[in-house]
Amino acid sequence: MPVITEIEELKRLYRRRVPKMFHDYCESGSWTEQTFRENSSDFDKLYFRQRVAVDMTGRSTKSQMIGQDVAMPVALAPVGSTGMQSGDGEIKAARAAEKFGVPFTLSTMSINSIEDVAEATTKPFWFQLYTMRDTDFTARLIERAKAANCSALVITLDLQILGQRHKDLKNGLSAPPKISPRLLWDLATKWRWDKSMAQAKRRNFGNIVGHVQGISDLADLGAWTNEQFDPTLDWDKIAKLKEQWGGPVILKGILDAEDAKMALKVGADAIVVSNHGGRQLDGALSSIRTLPAIMDAVGDQVEVHLDSGIRSGQDVMKALALGATGTYIGRAFIYGLGAMGEAGVTRALEVIQREMDISMALCGIKTVDQINRDIMLVPEDFEGRWQD
Ligand SMILES: Cc1cc2nc3c(=O)[nH]c(=O)nc-3n(C[C@H](O)[C@H](O)[C@H](O)COP(=O)(O)O)c2cc1C
Repeated sequence: MPVITEIEELKRLYRRRVPKMFHDYCESGSWTEQTFRENSSDFDKLYFRQRVAVDMTGRSTKSQMIGQDVAMPVALAPVGSTGMQSGDGEIKAARAAEKFGVPFTLSTMSINSIEDVAEATTKPFWFQLYTMRDTDFTARLIERAKAANCSALVITLDLQILGQRHKDLKNGLSAPPKISPRLLWDLATKWRWDKSMAQAKRRNFGNIVGHVQGISDLADLGAWTNEQFDPTLDWDKIAKLKEQWGGPVILKGILDAEDAKMALKVGADAIVVSNHGGRQLDGALSSIRTLPAIMDAVGDQVEVHLDSGIRSGQDVMKALALGATGTYIGRAFIYGLGAMGEAGVTRALEVIQREMDISMALCGIKTVDQINRDIMLVPEDFEGRWQD
């Protein structure tokens, strides 16, 4: 096994081992990719205060997210088609998360179904809901997640319409992929991926196929999915979904203080400050830059989590220092999965935890609840000063 010391290394391996179509699906943002790039580069504008001569023994990255114990406050974000990055990818990622002690979030648009993941794991995972025009289907999804003992419902609010990623259109992205000479050539050099796919339980969307009438082939599925994201979703509907679910609800995709206040009103247990990893509104601010304003608006009343752009334990600490109590990684775990399967997801988590642990020590702190603004140097204009 190669010696992996940073997420960037998993990313390089991932690029070599996964077909271009699925690599590009993960490694792009919408339109010019400005927001995708700034999600990560804005973390570099924040600096730590190094502290010395502080007893650094007895450190721990343990914490809680929505009242659940976590080995570190880093959950695996919902990532659609994870099972096309490595065969049975959702099962592999969920198992790695369970063993590590962090939450796994299964996407509505997963390849392995809710039931597949429940069967392959022993602890509850979180389920991410895209609300669909087909309200019966949405209601059944909620019931299936309840039956599978999922311990939180993550409702994604920033995808009522799909942002455009140029590469996906050019690559003709689909699950399973349509066979073309270019794809066959690509697959000939990706033997690890070929093998894992040949052994996989499923190669199309497990939460949908067999659960929606009239979908028997890929063409039906593509057409159904494209027209299903609910453009009429509003706060009343979100409140109703919360009622239907009856358990902890996390609202994902908040980037504006006014929306954070609305999320509070409908009774969210947590919100995720997120721009979908730069895949939706290009030209929006990075998640980390919007965090301070959202903390000011609702931070003392609801748990605030953050994702988009996290590639290291230092990034996690920066988000926590600005007030978040939890974070999520999307691409960072997908790189690991595509590079090395379940072991790669574990490696990604280990790398991030080690980076967190050492950085905590060098900042002179021992516990996650000591991570606050005092450990950071934040540029005065970090949030930006905008005209009214
Ligand atoms: C390939 C890919 C697929 C995604 N699919 C979903 C999804 O199905 N549901 C969802 O709520 N978010 C989805 N997201 C967004 C992630 O949950 C998360 O917000 C994002 O990946 C965080 O940014 P990061 O990748 O820079 O960590 C997806 C992200 C990627 C990269």
